[in-house]
Amino acid sequence: MMDLDTISLASALGNRPFRFYPSVGSTNDIAMTWLREGGPSGGVVVADEQTSGRGRLQRTWQTPPGRAIAMSLLLHPPIQNLPLVMMLGAWGVAATLEQMGIQRVGIKWPNDIQIDGKKVCGILPEIVWEGNNLVGVVLGIGINVDVDFRDTPLAQTATSLSAFLDDIPPRPTIIRDVLAQIDLGYNDLIYAPHKLVDAWRARLNMLGKPLQVMLSTGQIIVGRAVAVDDEGALRLEKPDGSVQRILFGDISNL
Ligand code: BTN
Repeated sequence: MMDLDTISLASALGNRPFRFYPSVGSTNDIAMTWLREGGPSGGVVVADEQTSGRGRLQRTWQTPPGRAIAMSLLLHPPIQNLPLVMMLGAWGVAATLEQMGIQRVGIKWPNDIQIDGKKVCGILPEIVWEGNNLVGVVLGIGINVDVDFRDTPLAQTATSLSAFLDDIPPRPTIIRDVLAQIDLGYNDLIYAPHKLVDAWRARLNMLGKPLQVMLSTGQIIVGRAVAVDDEGALRLEKPDGSVQRILFGDISNL
């Protein structure tokens, strides 16, 4: 797919400031630098390929050329609403996929977007500070558009939009639609945060289920996800009946 370049993006994104790279290390790095230089809210960095894309929990993220979307959006949210930014990303992509007519879209806590239980998109928010001052947040979004995971270690856990759509929209159109959705959600983040939290929570696909959670320390805990609170933390009921609050981690079904 050679649908993604500066010209097609300029026409899809209208007045939105953007930077496009055919190949880049990580769009999040470029966007963080742009934020430090005074980059505007709503500005977006897009790449056709990433050579050192990052995922959550120190993982890598693959963005092969021509087959995926890697983008990083610049935001200046109020400091008290920082925890909502990852929900904004996950909700925005999930809602866009639903509008494309894709069924069985869900969010795996905290912010993996899945179709039929397989990951199609990951979100990596990164906060930029200058001393104690919040400069802004970069909301990194990676979408598998037409990545072939067959015969790879990810075959059972990852998928692409192309597995669910006969006609895949051009990537600039998908980018435009996701960003438009996120603009709507950003308005809620500021003026109606509970609405955004509820819309995110409503799409979570593992509440009530027995899970195992790997913490960022590597420790594994088992239990049942009983709730997520307004900051996005998971409440895990352990076999002894106690409830643990978990802010970061990686869950899998038991
Ligand atoms: C995850 O699920 O672990 C998060 C993956 C986030 C990937 C995106 S692609 C655009 C942006 N640049 C990066 O290096 N990572 C994010």
